[in-house]
Amino acid sequence: MKDKIVLITGATSGIGKETAKGLAMLGATIIFTSRDTLKGEKIKKELITTTNNKNIRVLKCDLASFESIRNCCKEFKSKYDNLHVLINNAGVWDFKRRESKEGIENIFATNYLAPFLMTNLLLDILKKSGPSRIINVTSGMHYGTINFDDIEFKQKFSGAKAYRQSKLGLILYTKLLAKKLNGTGVTVNTAHPGMNKTELGRDASGFSRMIFKMMGKDPKIGAETSIYLASSSDVKNISGEYFAKKKIKKSSKESYDMILAKKLWDLSKEYLEKS
Ligand SMILES: NC(=O)c1ccc[n+]([C@@H]2O[C@H](COP(=O)([O-])OP(=O)(O)OC[C@H]3O[C@@H](n4cnc5c(N)ncnc54)[C@H](OP(=O)(O)O)[C@@H]3O)[C@@H](O)[C@H]2O)c1
Repeated sequence: MKDKIVLITGATSGIGKETAKGLAMLGATIIFTSRDTLKGEKIKKELITTTNNKNIRVLKCDLASFESIRNCCKEFKSKYDNLHVLINNAGVWDFKRRESKEGIENIFATNYLAPFLMTNLLLDILKKSGPSRIINVTSGMHYGTINFDDIEFKQKFSGAKAYRQSKLGLILYTKLLAKKLNGTGVTVNTAHPGMNKTELGRDASGFSRMIFKMMGKDPKIGAETSIYLASSSDVKNISGEYFAKKKIKKSSKESYDMILAKKLWDLSKEYLEKS
């Protein structure tokens, strides 16, 4: 990965931090985003020390703000001429309904609309830098459907349903984007990291929070599929697929529905045009 520039969201914790570490150890230049400048600087120092790779930088970005994403992408392009790997890793699982800066339900905004916007803003530099790769971190919990009647769960909020919907949305987006990017030198795939002990349940109360922190594997294992997709020559020509444990897997029936994918894509564009 020497001479490769990798941008990864949400590397201040869990799977993202391990992904940044793994790719830094392979020699890549790592730029990661953090919504908290102090935390970002602290993690940057930690990553430089543990990997012995000095080419690690942090950019401020709150993924629950379109303005912040736009500023971050602008800053990235002003500092770097190339982008070889974009990893949309950051994600949330809220237990209470929250809204992003633009007033959009937070899980939908952070897990789905943020990667949609960020990828679109960086497509030009990804194409210019080709061959390049996009990795969208989804989840095995993507089953269900897209709740078009109430996509922001305004009537009745369920964190689990909103989370599952956001992850299905990412797979639908990835499959449709892969078709649009055919022949451009840019591939896009999804990674399911498996169940990992991370901070994903930070918003949960007591018992559920404990489950999130105690159940599952070390996030280092969860990061393996993202690292593989970012670096292995085995996958250089593969696009539009869903990976788990470094292998192509079948995703849910709904995730192959390209009519659903197109409907969601059009709605996503409307959201971005509004704010
Ligand atoms: N853990 C699992 O079992 C599991 C299973 C399947 C899929 N996943 C997916 O794996 C990805 C990584 O999650 P994780 O388990 O490693 O969780 P995590 O430890 O909670 O890490 C999430 C990362 O996302 C960042 N983030 C959240 N909201 C943000 C925002 N508004 N702006 C900027 N950054 C934001 C966090 O930043 P802060 O440090 O500032 O909070 C953190 O760096 C997520 O997409 C998740 O859905 C996880």
